[in-house]
Amino acid sequence: MGEARQHPIGVYDSGVGGLTVVHWLREILPKERILYFGDTARVPYGGRTPGEIIEFSRQIVAFFQKQGVKFIIAACNTSSALALPVVAPISPIPIMGVIGAGAHRALEVTSNKKVGVIGTEATVESHAYAYALEELDPSVTVYERACPRLVPLIEAGHWEGEVVREPLRQYLTPLAKQDIDTLILGCTHYPFLLGSVQELLGPKVEIVDPAEATAKEAREKLGELDLWSLEKLGEDGYFVSGDPISFRASSARLGYTHRVEHVDITKYTI
Ligand code: DGL
Repeated sequence: MGEARQHPIGVYDSGVGGLTVVHWLREILPKERILYFGDTARVPYGGRTPGEIIEFSRQIVAFFQKQGVKFIIAACNTSSALALPVVAPISPIPIMGVIGAGAHRALEVTSNKKVGVIGTEATVESHAYAYALEELDPSVTVYERACPRLVPLIEAGHWEGEVVREPLRQYLTPLAKQDIDTLILGCTHYPFLLGSVQELLGPKVEIVDPAEATAKEAREKLGELDLWSLEKLGEDGYFVSGDPISFRASSARLGYTHRVEHVDITKYTI
């Protein structure tokens, strides 16, 4: 199969959200070829059980293994929080998530040590961010809020306007009352709503998108594993478990014009 370092990186999410991480990977690791998988037949992950989220992640790892990827990024907070503690130790390919990078970045940014986190129900119920933040800095106070209405809206192409501002107002107002100075977008879909989030919270609250910090951490980890690609060989690839046409429409709005292929992900597992 050739030199491992020339193999692609696998990046996955439940849908289009992980593209916010792909954006930074392309900036920070331009020589890496990326294979992206969006589990659009089973989005949203946020209301699913830990058992389902673990099972999906095992299937996706097996799919990437078949594609010969050298390293996997779970560009999904829900999967990072619920699946990685179980799947990372049994994965045949090194795999990382987004939560550690997001927590580190938030602590660099906060002054008053009051950090808000918005995420899916599953992520918030896991308290993965609260644990990660408190482990790094026990003096931090974390306010978590689940936002179950946002991912279905974003997947349906609603990224601005009152249709997203109304639920955001409902979710963010209680956090704003806690005097947070930093908000972690603890779901890779939420950066699509960055403008509305910033407008509702005002300029005094710093918004942390863990995607950039995740891409930097991936560069470090690839370096430690001696897996930096020397040059980009071939095109990136995009795969979905659902309808490729609607995924292509959403990703085209972000400037992704690659072919999108359908995959029957249920036939894979590690
Ligand atoms: N974008 C994912 C996350 O970061 C999953 C959202 C969902 O499918 O509910 O949590």
